[in-house]
Amino acid sequence: MVALARSNILPDLPPMSDEGDASTQAFERDVLKGLGARRKHLPPKYFYDAAGSQLFDRITDQPEYYPTRCEMHILQDNAAAIAQLIPAGAALVEFGSGSNKKARILLAAAPVLAVYVPVDISGEMLEQEAAALQLDFPRLKIHPVAADFTHDFDLPEEAKAAPVRVGFFPGSTIGNFEPHEAASFLRNAAKILGPGAKLIIGADLIKPAEILNAAYNDGAGITAKFNLNLLVRINRELGGTFKLDTFEHHAFYNRERHRVEMHLASLKRQKVKVAGECFDFRAGETIHTENSYKYSVESLGALARGVGWASAGVWTDAKKHFSIQAFSLAP
Ligand code: SAH
Ligand code: AVI
Repeated sequence: MVALARSNILPDLPPMSDEGDASTQAFERDVLKGLGARRKHLPPKYFYDAAGSQLFDRITDQPEYYPTRCEMHILQDNAAAIAQLIPAGAALVEFGSGSNKKARILLAAAPVLAVYVPVDISGEMLEQEAAALQLDFPRLKIHPVAADFTHDFDLPEEAKAAPVRVGFFPGSTIGNFEPHEAASFLRNAAKILGPGAKLIIGADLIKPAEILNAAYNDGAGITAKFNLNLLVRINRELGGTFKLDTFEHHAFYNRERHRVEMHLASLKRQKVKVAGECFDFRAGETIHTENSYKYSVESLGALARGVGWASAGVWTDAKKHFSIQAFSLAP
C-alpha cells in the first residue's frame, strides 16, 4: 500500500505510514481468522490500544490483582541483588514495558547503562512513559522501540554496540503465551540479546483457585472493561458491529492447564459483522481472549533451560505468590 504524504490540505491527519498499515492489516487478519475458527479466539496482544493500556494500569491498582504488588515488593526487597546481574555499560532491554514502574526500581539500583530500551506494542503509552522516565533519570539514555516482540525486531545501535545486553520481562506477560510460544520467545530473546546475556523474568506462580479467580474478576469491574475494550477496538478499527451489552466477561482458573482463561460470552444468538465479514454466535458461545499461565519455579526453569538459558537466581515473596527468575547465556 502507498504511504500518504502529509499535505497542507489535511493538516490534522496523522501521517499514514506503511508500518501503521501493516499493523492494521495484521490486526484484521488475526481477528478474521480467530472469529472464523470453530472455537472463537483473539490474541491478547490486541488488548493494548491506548485505552486498553490505561485499563491494564487500573487493573494493577485493584485490591484483588496481587501480581503487580507482589512483583514490586520482590524487586524492592532484592533490588541490589537483582541489579548485580546488570554489568556497568550494559544495555537493558525491557519486553512489554507498559508503565515502566518495575524498570524504575531496577534502574535506581543498576550501574551506569549504555542504554535502556523499552519495547512495547502500545506506541502511544511507550512514548509517554519514556518521556516521563527521562525527567526522573536525566542522565539515562533511553531508546524506546515500538514493536511486536513476537516478531523479529531490530535493537537500536547503542544496544547492539554494548558489551552485553540484559533482558527484563516483568509482569508475568510470559504467562500470556502458550507454553510452546513462551519457549519460542525465550529462544528468540537469546538470539536478540546475544552471548553473555542475562534475562530477568517476572512470573506468576501456581496458587489456590480462589485467589486467582478473584484477581481476574475484580469487584470494580475493571478487568471486565479491559476484556470488553477489545470489542470496542474491533468496532472502531475494523468496522465491527459488536453490541457491548450483549457480551459478558468470563474469567476462571483452569486447574488442569494451570491457567486463568478469559472469555467474552455472547448473551444471545446473534450475528456480528467485522471488516465486511459476518460471524454467527450461539447464545453462551464465547470468544477466548486470553490465557494467563501460572508456573512453578521448576516448570519455568525447565522451559528456559530447554532452550539454552542457565538458571542464575530466583526470588519470591514470603507467600510464594510471584517469582522473579534470572537466566544467563554463556559468553
Ligand atoms: N511490564 C508491565 C506491563 C505488563 S502488561 C508490568 O509489568 O506492569 C503487558 C505489556 O506488554 C503491555 O504494555 C503490552 O502493551 C505489552 N505487550 C503485549 N504483547 C506484546 C507484544 N506482542 N509485543 C510487544 N509488547 C506487547
Ligand atoms: C499482562 N498480563 C500478564 C496480565 C495477566 O495477568 O495475564 C493481563 C491481565 N489480564 C487480565 N488481568 C490482567
